[in-house]
Amino acid sequence: MAEISEFQDRLLSLGLARVSEAAALASANLVGRGDEKAADQAAVNAMRDQLNLLDIKGVVVIGEGERDEAPMLYIGEEVGTGNGPEVDIALDPLEGTTLTAKDMPNALTVIAMAPRGTLLHAPDVYMEKLAIGPGFKPGTVTLSMTPSERVSALAAAKGCSTEDITVCILERPRHEDLIREVRSTGAAIRLITDGDVAGVMHCAEPETTGIDIYMGSGGAPEGVLAAAALKCMGGQFFGKLLFRNDDERARARKAGITNFDRVYTRDDLVRADVIFAATGVTSGSLLAGIKREPGRVTLETILMRSKTGSVRRMTYKTPLR
Ligand code: FBP
Repeated sequence: MAEISEFQDRLLSLGLARVSEAAALASANLVGRGDEKAADQAAVNAMRDQLNLLDIKGVVVIGEGERDEAPMLYIGEEVGTGNGPEVDIALDPLEGTTLTAKDMPNALTVIAMAPRGTLLHAPDVYMEKLAIGPGFKPGTVTLSMTPSERVSALAAAKGCSTEDITVCILERPRHEDLIREVRSTGAAIRLITDGDVAGVMHCAEPETTGIDIYMGSGGAPEGVLAAAALKCMGGQFFGKLLFRNDDERARARKAGITNFDRVYTRDDLVRADVIFAATGVTSGSLLAGIKREPGRVTLETILMRSKTGSVRRMTYKTPLR
């Protein structure tokens, strides 16, 4: 494994922002066009092309799927020029394909990079997720608490009433009980139809987004990306893999997971310093979406390094070809 000091995160971070921008730019003409597949494919192609220009020996650990189901950016694909540090890459070229096709808020392109062997190879199964922003003691909320206990504990830690707490939850039939219980505390719920990486990131800036806590299950790969973001922005994240059948357990075993009951903290999912970039595709509370004017497009990217805690927001204007 490469030494962590070899990870040239400062130099590489601007390159990572370009990768994320390229994916968003490629999907610019496909926002609101009702074609999820075309939007995703355009983002995948562009992300891969740009990633392959970076001087890294990269391996995709969170990607588009297993090699037999994803021809590009599949798990295990080697990316980069091959000259440079050995790194793990976690990516989602279009997080929120349906959001993009329908021009609904908070679709992002997302990529994270860390030293080789430090990102969890999360299988494509669901993960129970819980996240809060920075400034709280460890253990303020836990996955072993009931949803209403978490709301009460967070309200106590913030010195406010449960009615002042807003919980973000994916709107899914599987979350009906969760939603009912959270409503019984008096807390508000921001239901999202997709995009739980953005949902979790919203917890890190509650004053901007209005969201205090994220709860519920979603994709495990997205859990690693969300943990990478929170490692840079500050905040706590907990995740537990959920298995619905033997096939999913086999996927986990193949990814090297042996303890199926483990609760992963943010730093278990991302075990070393990480750099993270995301570009807004559709407008949201954290990032502006792609703005198209005749002949020109404007994108906003958030670029973060956990080593320094730096959070940059970059605006990129370019002619639309
Ligand atoms: P896509 O971008 O692949 O469509 O996924 C979006 C997403 O909403 C994720 O953010 C989330 O983790 C997952 O899908 C939830 O899965 P499901 O739709 O099966 O509940």
